[in-house]
Amino acid sequence: MATHLELPAGGRMPILGLGTWQVPAGAARDAVEFAIDVGYRHLDCAHMYQNEMGWRKNIVDKRKETTLRMRVCVSPQLWSTFHERSLVKEACQKTLAALQLDYLDLYLMHCPMGFKAGEELFPADGNGMIIPSDTDFLDTWEAMEELVDVGMVKAIGVSNFNQNQINQLLGKPGLRHKPANNQIESHPYLPQEELIKFCQAKGISVTAYCPLGAPSWPGSKPDHISLLDDPQIKEIALKHNKTPAQVLIRLQIQRNVSVIPKSVTPQRIEENFKVFDFELSAEEMETLLGFKKRYRICALTQCKNHKDYPFLED
Ligand SMILES: NC(=O)c1ccc[n+]([C@@H]2O[C@H](COP(=O)([O-])OP(=O)(O)OC[C@H]3O[C@@H](n4cnc5c(N)ncnc54)[C@H](OP(=O)(O)O)[C@@H]3O)[C@@H](O)[C@H]2O)c1
Repeated sequence: MATHLELPAGGRMPILGLGTWQVPAGAARDAVEFAIDVGYRHLDCAHMYQNEMGWRKNIVDKRKETTLRMRVCVSPQLWSTFHERSLVKEACQKTLAALQLDYLDLYLMHCPMGFKAGEELFPADGNGMIIPSDTDFLDTWEAMEELVDVGMVKAIGVSNFNQNQINQLLGKPGLRHKPANNQIESHPYLPQEELIKFCQAKGISVTAYCPLGAPSWPGSKPDHISLLDDPQIKEIALKHNKTPAQVLIRLQIQRNVSVIPKSVTPQRIEENFKVFDFELSAEEMETLLGFKKRYRICALTQCKNHKDYPFLED
């Protein structure tokens, strides 16, 4: 069973990482520190999460303690208000400074949609709908390629891209760096089999976000059955003497998909890492990928009018 995914330029990304969305800076610092001690060597962060400054001290301290830097894969994301070509380098510099790193292992375009540049993360009009920028994600990609050229970034990738958008990127005349990774929402209620197989066939690794169904997602409705409470998932977990969370993480690893469960709770951070000592059967994998129930947690409905809205097929 793979414990790492290969990245271009010889990099390797641990298949299991720690998510940090909706974590305030102080809690992020503690969670990252604890996770590194547990053994996590892949950290997911983003300008949008507004907590990068919180956990830089850990990386610096841990680097001093050990030769860890070469082994921790940090993969931040370029936020949508920085899609103008002239803003991409500045955004990356800000992230490098916030994390106190010389380079990033993997830098992802957070979303294909560009938003109006400025301080607001989600600039909205009077109806609450997003104000787009007039950027094209292919131009943003070119600016990201330049980050690789100057050594600020080892590899670049995307997030929330659909199949058509990946095809546009791969077909871009003069493409110099293929996307190394597509980070997408995936869990049993949104398995994304087709998109994952498509990316993997094109040599693009995939990372699953919201792998546990983001139980504390503010948009969750009371009638949403939590994945962690799903009777079929609980039954599989019981059979392996594991928890539903461990089953959901293991599901992605067995598909060769990187997975970044978020937790700020030490006991859960540890629990989520203990997923390399059991194997789901083919039948169990089929059950987990065969649910009729479907829902997307990060649907970004306020962006539905954007020309590059990626979830039109839902
Ligand atoms: N690229 C994108 O657009 C995008 C979008 C969304 C997320 N992401 C990334 O993906 C990461 C993961 O997604 P997510 O944070 O939305 O959701 P998630 O990882 O599916 O779920 C996180 C939630 O599950 C709880 N949890 C964690 N381990 C648990 C366990 N063993 N048992 C019970 N509950 C557990 C956490 O609570 P506690 O923290 O209280 O323990 C937290 O409330 C994010 O943090 C972020 O880094 C990327």
